[in-house]
Amino acid sequence: MKVLCGSSSKSLATDLANKLGTVCIQATTKRFPDSEVYVRIEEESLDKEIVIVQNTYPDSNLVELFLIQDAARGLGAEKITTVVPYFGYGRQDRRFQAGEALSAQVMLKHLAVDTDRLFTIDLHKPDILRWFTKPGAKDITATTAIGNFFAHNDVDLVLAPDKGASQRAAEVAHVLGCANDHLTKTRLSGSEVVIQPSRLDARGKTVLIVDDIISTGGTIFAATNELKRLGAKKVFAVCTHGLFIGGALDKLRTVCDRVISTNTLENEVSEISVAEEVAKVI
Ligand code: R5P
Repeated sequence: MKVLCGSSSKSLATDLANKLGTVCIQATTKRFPDSEVYVRIEEESLDKEIVIVQNTYPDSNLVELFLIQDAARGLGAEKITTVVPYFGYGRQDRRFQAGEALSAQVMLKHLAVDTDRLFTIDLHKPDILRWFTKPGAKDITATTAIGNFFAHNDVDLVLAPDKGASQRAAEVAHVLGCANDHLTKTRLSGSEVVIQPSRLDARGKTVLIVDDIISTGGTIFAATNELKRLGAKKVFAVCTHGLFIGGALDKLRTVCDRVISTNTLENEVSEISVAEEVAKVI
């Protein structure tokens, strides 16, 4: 069962192929002058089963994924496992106001057209997978990989920036064998949040903040400032999906002792590979 990737997730796809003891084929992609994408898999044929690794973010990668799936079908793939490392539109999981699109559901409905099994990683809300209209969808957690990565960093306390991420923090803390808690977050705008302290004292401690996504960095920036104000010795920040919009990484580096992400999105700090976790499930 070969691994096939497009332009979004080459590093993870290569790593995954190594773990599975198979090869990684990269589809040829290029842009036409009007920016439409061209896709070709330069193989004579494909096995009946194939694993495709491709993000659905940004929008251009979603279209690329649909075309890769179609090209794979054209070369004989009958059972397609699609791994979506970062699932775009996952946060619009309900109609917050009348008239809005239910984006997460739309994406899952359309992904099912040419996907037989779907694997995602650390969805903001994993229960959206109920909208995938076939059996065989699973969200894989990166918490073990994250915990293992920080195993030799003398972390005293793992914190989630809000209650919603507390299970994630608990799982990472379990791997590290240390305490965990969550902060309380109030969002003021798209990029500004106010953070209130946890029950556990951070004074003199090395604290690891764990979140699913770092987007503008507003959450981690405010949480780190609060923890430093409370006397934390060091603050590390880790996320599964490092979007780092608009200079977020540089901003976070001014306050955090270390900022790291997994390789679901490739960036300059995507040092934690989730390939092992995905390989186990496949
Ligand atoms: C929201 O609940 C998510 O878990 C993240 O905390 C959020 O997406 C981070 O966004 P930002 O980096 O813009 O604060």
